[in-house]
Amino acid sequence: MKDLRKAVFPLAGHGTRFLPMTKASPKEMLPLVDKPVVQYTVEEAVASGVSQIIMVTGRGKRAIEDHFDISYELEDVLREKGKMKLLEDIRRISFMAEVVYTRQKESLGLGHAVLCARNLVGEEPFAVALADEVIDASCPALAQLLDVAREFDAPVIGVQEVPPGEVSHYGIIRGQEIREGLFRVDSLVEKPRVEEAPSRWAVIGRYILTPDIFSILENQKPGVGGEIQLTDALVTLASHRPVYAVRIEGRRYDTGDKGGFLRATVRYGLKNPELGPDFRKFLVELLEHPEEV
Ligand code: UTP
Repeated sequence: MKDLRKAVFPLAGHGTRFLPMTKASPKEMLPLVDKPVVQYTVEEAVASGVSQIIMVTGRGKRAIEDHFDISYELEDVLREKGKMKLLEDIRRISFMAEVVYTRQKESLGLGHAVLCARNLVGEEPFAVALADEVIDASCPALAQLLDVAREFDAPVIGVQEVPPGEVSHYGIIRGQEIREGLFRVDSLVEKPRVEEAPSRWAVIGRYILTPDIFSILENQKPGVGGEIQLTDALVTLASHRPVYAVRIEGRRYDTGDKGGFLRATVRYGLKNPELGPDFRKFLVELLEHPEEV
């Protein structure tokens, strides 16, 4: 597999699980302490060697474009006030990768969103990252996938094991474990009922794909929820060529879910070197003396 240069970020969903917050603002701009969720995932992609981010956006997602753009007025203000560290931080956001945009005009599903990036991807392998799945890992999650993609010269899907009660929220793989945490994928099922799930290994929003997926997506019929599902296209891909799944090491937070967002906020708050110690004290007091804090 050639070097991985591009990552597609499908950002055109409606975010219904986070309404009403998502009525006019993208869920990917929710802050984890002081950075929006999408920045964590862009940083993961860049740390994995990606140099071009292809964002597939939709209505109401302009704030994401502004976040990765240069903000001259703000930079001038910070420079005048001598806030050089902040200035450096916000300039870094605009230059960490080349970010290009395309729009998905109708929310026809994740598979369709990926297909919208076809011309921008061209004929090379590419990553797909669901920005609201934030993964806190010592080795960036996409880099973990890339190691396997290089070893087998094949598409790779990131998975984690979920409790039986949660399989119906995910795409679930069926496959053989060929070494610890590495699977050769036979098939996948999107959001199966627990009694029909072929395993508990859930697809968690990180993929390395090859451009042959596009002709499959082009002909993909709507699946679960009436949407063009990436999972269904991967089933076809896995019947044509070897596809692998690898267990992602790291803590994953589904920040598109209210509970997942709260957990991520607490975790990143505690990890923050400036805020963490006080925040920890606050949480302990809150749990021990809820009436007093
Ligand atoms: P989700 O299933 O999380 O859907 O999509 P959603 O609309 O964002 O959120 P809920 O479930 O309604 O709360 C998975 C990913 O696919 C993108 C979403 O932006 C998200 O990153 N997506 C989904 C698209 O880009 N286009 C679509 O038509 C559907």
